[in-house]
Amino acid sequence: MRTTKFLAACLLTLSVFSCKQPDYNSKDAEIEKKVEALLSKMTLEEKIGQMNQISSSGNIEEMSELIKKGEIGSILNEVDPVRVNQLQRAAVEGSRLGIPVLIARDVIHGFKTIFPIPLGQAASFDPEIAREGARVAAVEASSVGVRWTFAPMIDISRDPRWGRIAESCGEDPYLTAVMGAAMVKGFQGDSLNDPTAIAACAKHFVGYGAAEGGRDYNSTFISERNLRNIYLPSFEAAEAAGAATFMTSFNDNDGVPSTGNKFILRDVLRGEWGFDGIVVTDWNSAREMINHGFAADDKDVAEKSVNAGVDMEMVSYTFVKQLPELVKEGKVKESVIDEAVRNILRVKFRLGLFDNPYVDENKPSVFYNKEHLAAAKRAVEESTILLKNENAVLPLGSNVRTIAVVGPMANAPHDQMGTWVFDGDKTHTQTPLAALKAMYGDKVNIIYEPGLTFSRDTNAEGIRKAAAAAARADVILAFLGEEAILSGEAHSLADISLKGAQTQLLEALENTGKPVVSIIMAGRPLTIAHEVELSDAVLYSFHPGTMGGPALADLIFGKAVPSGKTPVTFVQHVGQVPLYYAHHNTGRPARKGVKPLAELPLEAGQTSEGSNSSYMDYSVELLFPFGYGLSYTTFSYGTPKLSATELAKNDVLKVSFELANTGKYEATEIVQLYVQDKVASVTRPVKELKRFTRVTLKPGEKRMVEFELPIADLAFWNIDMKKVVEPGEFALWVAADSESGEPLTFTVK
Ligand code: BGC
Repeated sequence: MRTTKFLAACLLTLSVFSCKQPDYNSKDAEIEKKVEALLSKMTLEEKIGQMNQISSSGNIEEMSELIKKGEIGSILNEVDPVRVNQLQRAAVEGSRLGIPVLIARDVIHGFKTIFPIPLGQAASFDPEIAREGARVAAVEASSVGVRWTFAPMIDISRDPRWGRIAESCGEDPYLTAVMGAAMVKGFQGDSLNDPTAIAACAKHFVGYGAAEGGRDYNSTFISERNLRNIYLPSFEAAEAAGAATFMTSFNDNDGVPSTGNKFILRDVLRGEWGFDGIVVTDWNSAREMINHGFAADDKDVAEKSVNAGVDMEMVSYTFVKQLPELVKEGKVKESVIDEAVRNILRVKFRLGLFDNPYVDENKPSVFYNKEHLAAAKRAVEESTILLKNENAVLPLGSNVRTIAVVGPMANAPHDQMGTWVFDGDKTHTQTPLAALKAMYGDKVNIIYEPGLTFSRDTNAEGIRKAAAAAARADVILAFLGEEAILSGEAHSLADISLKGAQTQLLEALENTGKPVVSIIMAGRPLTIAHEVELSDAVLYSFHPGTMGGPALADLIFGKAVPSGKTPVTFVQHVGQVPLYYAHHNTGRPARKGVKPLAELPLEAGQTSEGSNSSYMDYSVELLFPFGYGLSYTTFSYGTPKLSATELAKNDVLKVSFELANTGKYEATEIVQLYVQDKVASVTRPVKELKRFTRVTLKPGEKRMVEFELPIADLAFWNIDMKKVVEPGEFALWVAADSESGEPLTFTVK
């Protein structure tokens, strides 16, 4: 079953990364026997103990006592190998059955060596970057005994106000599925059994990114069809890639909190997809069902979560306290508990924890090693997006003698790491200022005058000084953006413009008349229309992590060429949110361009002015569409050819075209293939990304690029809630972004 599903996942990601099947479940039959043998020896209390995850209290003796009594299955937030071994010893040598504990940590975009935030990694459209980032994180985290991470976060995120968009792969189901599956493979390596593998956790299941108004934890109202067409595919791909665990989300969808949602946990995840790993709640999300008004008290919480299909409870203790009585009363069957414990033990066996519970305390450190730093630098180079480059200001040429380095993010070692960094050490961060000095200081004079010392700073005096200093330079590099704390969990914003006096700083810099390059590091796509206008060139780097500085320095000087593309739509104004490329058409489709409000006559009569679903003041004008990004070179797209224009449902469509590098730099282009199902039993998105690939060409080089698209990949959940390919006409684009390209058509019989 797993094999078939892995092949399906390979098809999903065909042409974007290779499909060597990881060996996660090779010893399944043997493991099942061991699980059953162990389960048969366990008391009810010991079983329930396995279902309890605590966050480290810091007190080893106290935790060891609980472990010895069999009351704890997993511990979150212990990262010292000596302490991890002490806890493990209590479990293996001190508890009746010697079941090891599973040590967990949020290792989201790096453990010590911090990679770009996941949204940044998604901008690379390169699953290999995601896989490698997760692998490095796993090697570093496992070296201290962490064997379970709560990543990848694969929530579809279409609201930049939501702080957790930073942690996601953006707005697109296909891109998220590909990147998420690659992260699973990276964390888990070739085999879960390998001591450097850490179990991945697909989260948050499901719909969390659709929080109303972008306010964290808010309710969602996703129909089953949208759930299946938009929010579930990335999770299905993660499951098929072998994700060992899943986490329930905080939100209630259509009235049912995920932690108590039998439909998603039992019917879909276990029933339809055949998942046999651990389902863990989010932090206290079980007990929060009381706040939701879905459970009356702790007992109700435990009953509803376990019966819905949760195996392990994170930190809220209702399972250990309430389940024994619930089983006695027959409200939770012991067979249901057994199933949950099987899932937990199975993952512990798969991780090889029974054979190899301890971590080597004396192993030389693998933190920040050369290969890890090089991988992190590559990730920044690939994920930085060139949004504007007027008069080819970038890359800086040999005529540039003096550069002014300005802005609050030029030397912000903590903030450039971004959100969800518990273990990364800012003293290892290489900032742009440090890197420019170290790598290019012998070629150019560098004047550093930050202007503002942090992103929310409003100090006008600093601005005056920065502008005066910048006037002496040939080019100004303005490092702007958001502090790490302005995005992430519970850090949503209603206003997503640049904070503090950063815009005034940029205005003052522009007034100098010198070319201004803005380099923006942020946790989300900000509303920067005005700032883009003020700048001659703009590089968007999200939060780039430990190696942001060296990568950006090389991009600025042309030793590396930008290739990233936007993984999420950049809006002009926050009032336009949500705005995403794969929307449906209305009966009166929105048109671009609005008549200025000032042209409306006074006391104008009631009309259907414009007759389309736009705002009167902002229309649907984007700042940058999904999939957009420039290069130092130029690419020309030949007309695509289709292998056939009439296809059957089991055919594979081949799409080929010639891509040419028509500029002066060797560079990589992210080519995208979009499809629209023109008429269907339910309305379909105007465009959906179906394939993408990165193509590197030398100046003047041309290459035929070919995509294979099985027609089966056009299936969607239709009016009868069946996943089918409906016959009819389809439009297809091969393009540089979601807005360009001319459509071709083909028909499915
Ligand atoms: C977050 C999860 C995280 C967990 C454990 C929660 O608040 O929503 O994503 O894994 O905490 O730290």
